[in-house]
Amino acid sequence: MPIIAPSLLSADFLNLQKDCDMINSSEADWLHLDVMDGSFVPNISFGFPVIERVCKVSTKVCDVHLMIQEPGKYAEAFQKAGAHILTVHIEACPHLHRNLQQIKSLGMKAGVALNPHTPVHLLSDIIQDIDMVCLMSVNPGFGGQQFIPRTLDKIRVLKQLINERGAQSLIEVDGGVTLDNASGIMQAGADVLVAGNTVFRSADPLAAIAALKKL
Ligand code: DX5
Ligand code: ZN
Repeated sequence: MPIIAPSLLSADFLNLQKDCDMINSSEADWLHLDVMDGSFVPNISFGFPVIERVCKVSTKVCDVHLMIQEPGKYAEAFQKAGAHILTVHIEACPHLHRNLQQIKSLGMKAGVALNPHTPVHLLSDIIQDIDMVCLMSVNPGFGGQQFIPRTLDKIRVLKQLINERGAQSLIEVDGGVTLDNASGIMQAGADVLVAGNTVFRSADPLAAIAALKKL
């Protein structure tokens, strides 16, 4: 059964309480929070005031995806804001090992995200230290984009690497996940499905989450 992580990026920002209540009452496992700095990605989303309030009312695991430069500067603040899982981008981390140790020492699970062009084998000497790998299946920065099909091969290669090294890392797939492509993504070896538009643009978000969960 997949872990389902609806992405708040596609929620109604004038009615966040309503969308948080919907997620709380749903079969979703996690709540995915996308933080963008306008520098690492060409968009700006939301920051600490929103995350703090949302994590406080959320009954789900708060899965914070940092699309920002120098994430180490803010790791402690995200922990204080309520993050349970903190994911940094490998492309923004010249000292990835240090970043992961910092996140874990703050009591959070440590995730590493890879952009679509970044090869999975870059993780071969650090996979045992990673609680979750987030494979970007779109270029990060925006919700509602098309799934990049080559991601399926990356999932398979990553799964093999995790098994070879005896690592426990979960594989999260982020971007363009739909009710049509989700089962193929799971078959390739994914553990966690992020879904923004598929949940929040659905006429029945609770049913969309339940349908993803059933895969
Ligand atoms: C993209 C974000 C995703 C996004 C997914 O930069 O990291 O989490 O919200 O949205 P959908 O599911 O609509 O592609
Ligand atoms: Zn994300």
